[in-house]
Amino acid sequence: MGDLYLALIHAPVYNKNMEVVATSITNLDIHDIARCAATFDLKRYYVVHPAEAQRSLAQRIMAFWQEGFGAEYNPNRQEAFARVRLAVELKEVLEEIKAEQGMYPALVATDARRYPNTVSYADMRRRLEQEEKPALLLFGTGWGLVRELMENADFILEPIYGPGEYNHLSVRSAVAIILDRLRG
Ligand SMILES: C[S@@+](CC[C@H](N)C(=O)[O-])C[C@H]1O[C@@H](n2cnc3c(N)ncnc32)[C@H](O)[C@@H]1O
Repeated sequence: MGDLYLALIHAPVYNKNMEVVATSITNLDIHDIARCAATFDLKRYYVVHPAEAQRSLAQRIMAFWQEGFGAEYNPNRQEAFARVRLAVELKEVLEEIKAEQGMYPALVATDARRYPNTVSYADMRRRLEQEEKPALLLFGTGWGLVRELMENADFILEPIYGPGEYNHLSVRSAVAIILDRLRG
């Protein structure tokens, strides 16, 4: 089984008018997805944002839990943050993984919208278990990842569906469900 990575993309993503925007990093996405990454033993969780101010905000949030009072108060959070890394753009993430793995990861994108060439969770789980090649799961924010990124992905996972029409999961919920299906 190859190493599994996750990237949370804040730009470029869509807003509700399907305009291409950058969204803000949220405290909850850092904490909750870091805990998922640790629970499902991901190699690393990348928080990707082009704005330096946003990355330094995230750095300050994590520093509180990695040093001093926060680290003493909740060592579990310190452990979860140990596999979180900030990045400016996806390209930087790909180059970093290539540098440590000797090859680029397979790009596995996610979205609530159905794309023609999606793969089932069973198929993707089998691939991840049988192949040594690393893989990078891509999650969006706002109203999802832009079409170009989806079309450049090696794989697109099927959307998570409930029994009804309503389908507006938070990214934190989507991450937990998808990691459980792939690694639970
Ligand atoms: C707030 S959601 C965006 C929801 C948006 N309506 C969309 O179409 O993806 C942010 C991210 O969570 C993930 N996500 C949300 N709902 C999902 C679903 N039903 N199936 C798969 N991934 C989902 C995707 O990575 C998405 O980019």
